[in-house]
Amino acid sequence: MSFWKRLFTGSESGDSEDLPYSNVLFSTDREIDLYELEELCDAVGWSRRPLRKVKKAIDHSFCVISMYEQKEQFKHLIGFARATSDHAFNATIWDVVVHPEYQGRGLGKTLMDRMISELRAADISNITLFADPQVVDFYRRLGFMADPEGIKGMFWYPE
Ligand SMILES: CC(C)(COP(=O)(O)OP(=O)(O)OC[C@H]1O[C@@H](n2cnc3c(N)ncnc32)[C@H](O)[C@@H]1OP(=O)(O)O)[C@@H](O)C(=O)NCCC(=O)NCCS
Repeated sequence: MSFWKRLFTGSESGDSEDLPYSNVLFSTDREIDLYELEELCDAVGWSRRPLRKVKKAIDHSFCVISMYEQKEQFKHLIGFARATSDHAFNATIWDVVVHPEYQGRGLGKTLMDRMISELRAADISNITLFADPQVVDFYRRLGFMADPEGIKGMFWYPE
């Protein structure tokens, strides 16, 4: 299932009211230009990952949301997020990113609100993520809690 949605500043669409850009599009299409995604991740300083594995991760994600700015007939990727899931109870959100030139304007919140709506529409109630230290408060503002009831995220890495 994929959708396109155009957001107009001040339109009647509830989630677009505060958007500063007149042409921001969201898509759940998995056919993403991987080089464009790599550029977006480069722009926020993330380490490069093999594109073959990025494609596999996207193909196997439960939900993928891309955010584009449309200028005339061209659109370019300005944000991205994806979630994996067991399709029943749990989902985990990964790779949340907004291009630095578009940060601080409410777009990250809109992207996350959309992701949460998609997951809730699939009746998934346990939504988790791993927050880098500098973005913990961004997620807190969206309602995420760190260590609820003392629960700790635990990691295993190959040596
Ligand atoms: C984190 C990120 C997605 C936020 O996107 P954004 O478009 O700048 O966020 P928004 O403008 O929608 O901010 C929404 C709210 O969160 C706050 N916020 C944004 N980034 C924040 C941060 N790093 N720490 C604390 N609060 C933050 C904003 O001030 C705003 O608060 P308000 O609702 O009271 O006005 C973006 O900064 C980014 O892509 N960072 C680099 C990649 C990254 O670190 N991703 C997360 C990996 S876990």
